[in-house]
Amino acid sequence: MDLIADHISHRFGALDVLDDVSFAVGGGEVVAIVGPSGCGKSTLLQILGGLLQPAGGQARLRGHPPTDSLNPLTFVFQDFALLPWATAEENVAFPLLHARISPPERRALVADALRRTGLSDFRNAYPKQLSGGMRQRVGIARAL
Ligand SMILES: Nc1ncnc2c1ncn2[C@@H]1O[C@H](COP(=O)(O)OP(=O)(O)O)[C@@H](O)[C@H]1O
Ligand SMILES: [Mg+2]
Repeated sequence: MDLIADHISHRFGALDVLDDVSFAVGGGEVVAIVGPSGCGKSTLLQILGGLLQPAGGQARLRGHPPTDSLNPLTFVFQDFALLPWATAEENVAFPLLHARISPPERRALVADALRRTGLSDFRNAYPKQLSGGMRQRVGIARAL
């Protein structure tokens, strides 16, 4: 499955942030968007992730996601975006609540994501009880 940026432009009021950005990211490819603070990286990622409608162009997926994929697109937020009233485990489980999987399957997926991010012992902790790096790992586990 490929991720396509197709002539994406965006502006906030009078500020032109993105001007005709096009590229394709192939399956298995790892791409970093690099640039100075304020140049538009997060704006571009929000558009690619479907969180922001671009003023021009579009973001799209080409091909089919892997058969075992529950969600073709996931996102790790710079500012964590965790639910403060939910534990690490509940935050990771949140995007799976409406997936077509059984509760035991969901519990197994959540436990695996927590294990892979080194958070098994902190599954019952709330975000405010975790360090910044640990909160970000909860965000990564949720994306996994
Ligand atoms: N919601 C918004 N409203 C107005 N201006 C914004 C908004 N989000 C970002 N900007 C502006 O767009 C520019 C790019 O921001 P951003 O994409 O967050 O940059 P980066 O992630 O590369 O640091 C900045 O000048 C920022 O002030
Ligand atoms: Mg940013």
